[in-house]
Amino acid sequence: MTHPTTGTPILEAQGLTRSFGSRRTTTRAVDDVSFSVAPGAILGIVGESGSGKSTTLRCVVGLERADAGRVLFDGVPLVGANRETQRRFRREVQMVFQDPYSSLNPRMTVEMIVGEGLDIHKMAESRQARRARVVEVLELVGLDATVLDRYPRSFSGGQRQRIAIARALAVGPRVLVCDEPVSALDVSVQAQVVNLLLEMQQQLGLAVVFVAHDLALVRHLCHDVMVMQRGVVVENGPCADVFDRPQHEYTKSLLAAIPIPDPDRDRARRAAAAAERRSA
Ligand SMILES: Nc1ncnc2c1ncn2[C@@H]1O[C@H](COP(=O)(O)OP(=O)(O)OP(=O)(O)O)[C@@H](O)[C@H]1O
Ligand SMILES: [Mg+2]
Repeated sequence: MTHPTTGTPILEAQGLTRSFGSRRTTTRAVDDVSFSVAPGAILGIVGESGSGKSTTLRCVVGLERADAGRVLFDGVPLVGANRETQRRFRREVQMVFQDPYSSLNPRMTVEMIVGEGLDIHKMAESRQARRARVVEVLELVGLDATVLDRYPRSFSGGQRQRIAIARALAVGPRVLVCDEPVSALDVSVQAQVVNLLLEMQQQLGLAVVFVAHDLALVRHLCHDVMVMQRGVVVENGPCADVFDRPQHEYTKSLLAAIPIPDPDRDRARRAAAAAERRSA
């Protein structure tokens, strides 16, 4: 996979830190996390449950307040940026959440859901133009105008996630931030939704930040990967380097847990991992 690295990163996090808790017990959910994503590049974020992946994303998009650190969009720090830059950030950086059952308002029709961003960002001149844009993005994600008046409850999980992706794409983003976008879906539709995301990424030249538990998927999909453990980035780099020559023990243990179809290799690797555990 060719690696798009040219130019200013479209999205950059520097030293993001976020703690939770009371005065007596605080957890650093995110501890000095930095990364950057080039236009058109896909960054995977992996790590065990509770390692701070979602909190990192939430701090980046502004759903969570970071205690320290900053986010740069197209080279410009958001704190202190002018209104126009902040508006562009809110429009051009869109998020897809894990659970399409809770991320779509059950009282809104598909047309309302997908078109809402067009209103917020004043992107439609008329009702007809708005509807035409909504239909256009629905078609991009494999749906069509027949779903406009339907409510989220009448769709399957995979279809709901397509609607959530259409909502994100409607406003013409340059960055898609995805928090385990297929983990809540039936295994049989996960690949379809991943392929859709990849297709959109290529067609629209999007930069993508992609949190996933599935390391095999990250390897297949991403240019770069960042490995998190207990709020800290333990490893970061091009996928090929990190997966083929992991430097950190934690990364090695994550990789050892991926099933490999070749039984001999699998057996050899499990033996090696067991030996490593014994010596640790
Ligand atoms: N709103 C909150 N209040 C208190 N603690 C929180 C809050 N959000 C996250 N945490 C804690 O921060 C840590 C990191 O959580 P986070 O959800 O970011 O992990 P994650 O890597 O996304 O995990 P998962 O893979 O399970 O989604 C956890 O210890 C979690 O309990
Ligand atoms: Mg999470």
